Amino acid sequence: MLEIRSVHSGYGKLKILRGISMSVPNGSIVTLLGGNGTGKSTMLKAISGLIPVWEGEITFDGRAIQNLKPHVIVRRGLVQVTQGKDSYPGMTVEDNLKVGAFSRSDRAGVAQDMEMVFDLFPRLKDRRRQISGTLSGGEVQMLVIGRGLMARPKMIMLDEPSAALAPKIVLDIFRVVNRIRRDMNMTILLVEQNVRMALLLADYGYIIRDGVVHMEGEASSMIDDDNVRQSYLGGTVADTNVEALS
Ligand SMILES: Nc1ncnc2c1ncn2[C@@H]1O[C@H](COP(=O)(O)OP(=O)(O)OP(=O)(O)O)[C@@H](O)[C@H]1O
Ligand SMILES: [Mg+2]
Repeated sequence: MLEIRSVHSGYGKLKILRGISMSVPNGSIVTLLGGNGTGKSTMLKAISGLIPVWEGEITFDGRAIQNLKPHVIVRRGLVQVTQGKDSYPGMTVEDNLKVGAFSRSDRAGVAQDMEMVFDLFPRLKDRRRQISGTLSGGEVQMLVIGRGLMARPKMIMLDEPSAALAPKIVLDIFRVVNRIRRDMNMTILLVEQNVRMALLLADYGYIIRDGVVHMEGEASSMIDDDNVRQSYLGGTVADTNVEALS
C-alpha cells in the first residue's frame, strides 16, 4: 500500500533521512522504531507532504505521492495523526471530530463514522460536548486518533500514540490500534518509543539510526533478537503479552 524508496529529506541544509526504504503492505501494522531524534517524525512528515522529499520515491496505492500538498495526500486516503497535544482546544470533542472529515461531503457517512469513533472510545462519547482543552492527556490522544479516522482513510500513520501516558491508558490505546486494524482492515504505520508493545502489535518492524534503516524484520523475530533486546527493549509495560492487546 505504501512504498518508500531511498528517501532523503531534512530541514534546510540539514539532512536527516539518508536513503530510507520501507514497505507497508495493505492491511498490515508496520512499526518504525529508533532512538530520540533519529528521524521517525521526520519520515512521517516527508510522507505526509509536510516537508520536501529531496531524493527518492514514495508511492501510495500505486501512485507517486512525494512532494504533493498535504491535503491532496489526505484526500488520497493517507492520514497522519501527529505527535502530542494536537487538538483544537477551544472546540468541543464533536467539532474536533468533524474537522477530521473536512474533505468529505457524505453527511450520513460522517455521522456514522462519528458513532464508530465513539464506539472505539466510549470516553469521548461521554465528553462529546466538552471543550477539548479540558480533556486529559489520554483523552486528547484518543481524540486525535478519532479525528484521523473521520477522514475515512485507507491508511493511518500514528506518531507515538503512547507518549507520556500512564501504563493503563497506554494499553487501552494499543488495544484500540489493534481493533482498528482488525475491524476496519486499516493499514497502519506506527512510530513508537514503546518498542516491546509496538513489536507485539506489529507484523513487521524497521529500526532507523543515522538516517538509514539499521535493522528490519518480522516483528515476532525482532522481539526475540538479542541486538534489539539489548539496544531498544524496555518501555513502560514490559510484561505485557499479546493476549492483553486483544
Ligand atoms: N523543524 C525542524 N527544523 C530543524 N531540525 C529539526 C526540525 N524538526 C526536527 N529536527 C531535527 O531532526 C532530527 C530528527 O527529528 P525527529 O523529530 O524526526 O526525531 P524522532 O525520531 O521523531 O525523535 P523522537 O523520538 O524524540 O520523537 C532531530 O535532530 C531534530 O532536532
Ligand atoms: Mg518524533
